[in-house]
Amino acid sequence: MLGGSLLLAGPKALTAMMHAMSAQANTLNVSVLPPFVDPLPIPSIAKPSGMRPLPSSPKTSVPYYRLPAQPIDVKIHRDLKPTRFWAYGGSVPGPTLEMRSGEEVLVEWANDLPQQHFLPIDYRLHGAEGNPQVRIVTHLHGGRVPPDCDGYPEEWYVPGKSLTYRYPIRQEAAMLWYHDHAMGINRLNIYAGLFGAAIIRDKAEDALNLPSGKYEIPLMIFDRMITPEGQLYYPISEKPRAPWIPELFGDAILVNGKLFPYLEVEPRKYRFRVLNASNARFYHLAFQNGLEFHQIGTDQGFLPSPLALKKISLAPAERVDVVVDFGDSRGEQIVLKDTSFNVMQFRVSASKVSDTSSLPAQLAPVPRIAESQAVKTRLLTLDEYTSLTGETVELLLNASYWHDPITEKPGLNTTEIWSFINPTDDTHPIHLHAVRFQILDRQHYEPWDYSAKKEFRFLGPRTPPEPYEAGWKDTVGAHSRMVTRIIVPFDSYPGRYVWHCHILEHEDNEMMRPYEIVAG
Ligand code: C2O
Ligand code: CU
Ligand code: CU
Repeated sequence: MLGGSLLLAGPKALTAMMHAMSAQANTLNVSVLPPFVDPLPIPSIAKPSGMRPLPSSPKTSVPYYRLPAQPIDVKIHRDLKPTRFWAYGGSVPGPTLEMRSGEEVLVEWANDLPQQHFLPIDYRLHGAEGNPQVRIVTHLHGGRVPPDCDGYPEEWYVPGKSLTYRYPIRQEAAMLWYHDHAMGINRLNIYAGLFGAAIIRDKAEDALNLPSGKYEIPLMIFDRMITPEGQLYYPISEKPRAPWIPELFGDAILVNGKLFPYLEVEPRKYRFRVLNASNARFYHLAFQNGLEFHQIGTDQGFLPSPLALKKISLAPAERVDVVVDFGDSRGEQIVLKDTSFNVMQFRVSASKVSDTSSLPAQLAPVPRIAESQAVKTRLLTLDEYTSLTGETVELLLNASYWHDPITEKPGLNTTEIWSFINPTDDTHPIHLHAVRFQILDRQHYEPWDYSAKKEFRFLGPRTPPEPYEAGWKDTVGAHSRMVTRIIVPFDSYPGRYVWHCHILEHEDNEMMRPYEIVAG
C-alpha cells in the first residue's frame, strides 16, 4: 500500500513523506494521550507598568508595557513533563495586549533569552549567516504603525537588549497579534512560542453589545511536534548543512498552549477570537455535532453582517471573529475538530442562564473599494524552485531575493491592485504590513503559458472572495494556479515595510520582500 502511494506521489511528495517518517522516530504520537483533561488556559490581559512620556512629545504620557522574551517551562498536557518554550511575558501565548482605537501606547520588547538557540538554525538562510544565534524583533501583525516601530526583520537585537515601540492606534476594532520577525530564524522563534494576541477596541464595537468579559475568549491554535520527553521538536532535512525544511506540520494541535483542552461554558452566546498561529498548517474547524459559527469579523474588523457557517477555514496568520450560541446545547459535550484532529472540547453546563448580549444583524459597513480607485496594478509571481530530486530549495516573490532593490513603491494615500500569480501547487498566505485590503477576486489560469510567454490564458471566470473573507483583510490565501487580486489603500505611514508569505518556512527562505510607501 505504501509502495502504491509512493508511486503516485511524485518526487516532492516522496521527500516530504520520508521526512515525516524519519521525524516520527523522534516524536511522541500525541493521540495516545487522553484528550480533554486540561482546562483551556486564557492568557492574561497585559497590564501597563505605569505611564511614560512619549519620546516625540515628552509632555504626553501614555501607558507603558514591558514584555520580556524569556525561557519558560509549561505543562501542555496533564501527562507530560513541562515543555521548554520561549515566551513573551511569561506565558505561551503571551499576555493579550488590549488597546483602544485613538490611544497610543509604548511597549518595551526586551530580549531576556539565553545566548544559544535550542532549535536548528540553518546558517545558509538570509539573515542567519554570520549573525548571533539568538535575535528577536517584534512585529504587531495587522498594526498600522510607523515603519520604525514595525519590527523590520533586520532590526533584530541580541539577549540583554530591548526596543521600545510606540503604537499610535489609528485603526478599527480587530484582533491583531504580535510575534517575532527576526530575519532567517522567524520560523524557529515563533515555533519556540514568541507570539501573543493584541485586541483593538473602539466605540462602534462597544455599541454592538457582543458577548464580552469572560464570554469573549481568544483561541490561538498552533501545531507542534513533541519529543517522547515532552519537548518541542523541529525536524531538519536530510542534509546536515542545509537543515531547512519547506513546511513544519506537527500532530500536536495546541489551543492557547494546551493539547486538546476543554472549556466549561454556559448555555449562552460566546465570542471567540480565533487565530491560526501555526508555522504552515491550515485549519478547517467544525463542531462535531454540526453547531454553527456566526462569523462576525475577519483579520481587520467586522463583516457587514453575521455569516452562519458550519466550518471555518484559516490559513497561517488569519483570524476570524465568531459568535457561538450554546443556548440549545445545555448539558452537552461538543468537540471542535479539524479535518483529522480533535482540537478541543466545550462542556456546556445544564443550568439555565440569562444572556443579555446580542448578535446584531448589522455589524459595521465595509464599503467596497471600486477598482477604478486603483492608480496601478502590479503583477507579482509566487515562485518555488525545486532541485532535480524534487526538494524545495527556495521560494521567491516576483523572482526577486530579499536583498534585491525595492521594486514595490506605492505612493502614500494611493490605492493599488496587487495580483498574485501562483504557479505552485500550494496556497501561499500573502501578508502585507502596515495596511489592510480587500480581496477582489481569484481566477484560474494556465501557468505554463504565463511562464513561457507572460500572457494570461484564463481557465474560468473571476470568482469573488468567499463570503467569509469578504471584509477587511491583511492576509490572503493566494491559491494554486490562480491569480488572486487584492485592492490596497496605502494610507498608513511613509517608509519601508515588508510583504511576505506567512508560511514561516517560506518566509525565512526568501519568500519575503521589502516594499516602500512613498510620500508625495
Ligand atoms: Cu505576521 Cu510579517 O507578519
Ligand atoms: Cu504583519
Ligand atoms: Cu508560501
